[in-house]
Amino acid sequence: MATRVVVGTQWGDEGKGKYIDMLAKDSDIVVRFSGGNNAGHTIVANGVKYALHLIPSGILNEGKTCIIGNGVVVDPAVLLKEIKELNDKGIDTSRLLVSDRAHVIMPYHRLLDELQEKFRGDNSIGTTKRGIGPCYSDKTERSGIRMCDLIDEEVFVDKVKENLKTKNLIIEKVYGGQKLDADQVISEYLEYGRKLKGYVADVNSIIFESIEQDKNVLFEGAQATFLDLDFGTYPYVTSSNPVAGGVCTGAGVGPVFINEVYGVLKAYTSRVGAGPFPTEQDNEMGDTIRELGWEYGTTTGRPRRCGWLDLVMIKYAARVNGLTALAINHVDTIGKLPKIMLCVAYKKNGQETRNFPSSLKELAQCEPVYEEFDGWEEDISKVKSFNDLPDNAKKYLRRIEEIVGVKIKLIGVGKEREQTIIV
Ligand code: GDP
Ligand code: IMO
Ligand code: MG
Repeated sequence: MATRVVVGTQWGDEGKGKYIDMLAKDSDIVVRFSGGNNAGHTIVANGVKYALHLIPSGILNEGKTCIIGNGVVVDPAVLLKEIKELNDKGIDTSRLLVSDRAHVIMPYHRLLDELQEKFRGDNSIGTTKRGIGPCYSDKTERSGIRMCDLIDEEVFVDKVKENLKTKNLIIEKVYGGQKLDADQVISEYLEYGRKLKGYVADVNSIIFESIEQDKNVLFEGAQATFLDLDFGTYPYVTSSNPVAGGVCTGAGVGPVFINEVYGVLKAYTSRVGAGPFPTEQDNEMGDTIRELGWEYGTTTGRPRRCGWLDLVMIKYAARVNGLTALAINHVDTIGKLPKIMLCVAYKKNGQETRNFPSSLKELAQCEPVYEEFDGWEEDISKVKSFNDLPDNAKKYLRRIEEIVGVKIKLIGVGKEREQTIIV
């Protein structure tokens, strides 16, 4: 049996999709366990670019079962659109299954996400406005609607009517928004339910049986450690648990069944949305990294904030996820700079620390401590082995391993699935 989990170690967009697609080749099933269509996972295969938001990034591998787990929040219109887009590109989606326990993103979730962000004003989180937070709030508040409800007309109609009683009051009276029409929501969503019914299943038993039968199961993380509701830079986080522990609750798998955890990172750091970012380069250097790495959001198209790689963060991510391997991307990108800075610790009140603080006030008092490295301006996009990398690249990568205490197993030198060095 081999179960592998792939998680983000920074603020998302580390290149998880590329590695999921690659690791899916020798997996039997691929399971998304958290988040929703706030995620944007890019895969470039044979020159064709795919941007997946909900469907597991294993879908391009023929014959692999792809599962959307119970921990995911599903916008049915987005899911149907993504299925169609893949089908139009000749990708078969009959191997896709959606957990009957996954919660459904409703129009009032999207509307409330937008209204809440507007009302936060200067304190806005910079959400993707996809309704993620309000949907997870309903899940914990116990008023959510699940996929099993969406495909059961009687239950669905009741739940929408019940929900809209309070949601419309909040939309209108609290936020001054335009209330939603129950009949319209119901007829739109019942149609989605009819179209998606064939995909909805009790996937937990499939995942469990696969593990029992010694199959290879790959768990696909979305978002990342520092967007985690518990371990991220709260409140500038998402509303789910993207850390490896999220597999237990988001796919229904006991911790003893998790064998390997890959932590994906970029050779620098990026962030979309608001919140602290100690090594951010809000200057020409940040602009240069953004252009070299083409750092624009896969989901919202927003320019990503860019800065140096922060190993205090990666060390913390190694701990909370139990990382067994690092998978680093954009080694080609960072090497184009003549000088690279690597944050190896923080300085707070004159003292060096490698602990990532919980309080944002304390985090603001932390100054990154940098080590300087020389770039490797030559083109490494076709390099196939660690030994063939320029010495300066090896030095940079070895220092990362040394400080984090976890071995690098995968090195990304370009966007294509083949542009990966397996160490
Ligand atoms: P994800 O959300 O973690 O799957 O990452 P995204 O797809 O949102 O963002 C990663 C971006 O980096 C995408 O545009 C990828 O095509 C690109 N990418 C991934 N790995 C590499 C790499 O090693 N080198 C370069 N140059 N681009 C990469
Ligand atoms: P992938 O899987 C980068 C960020 C948003 C915002 C915060 C909360 O592609 O790595 P939300 O809509 O979730 O309530 O927004 O989280 N965010 C991401 N940033 N990559 C992602 O996913 C993200 N998913 C959410 O920008 O700051
Ligand atoms: Mg992304």
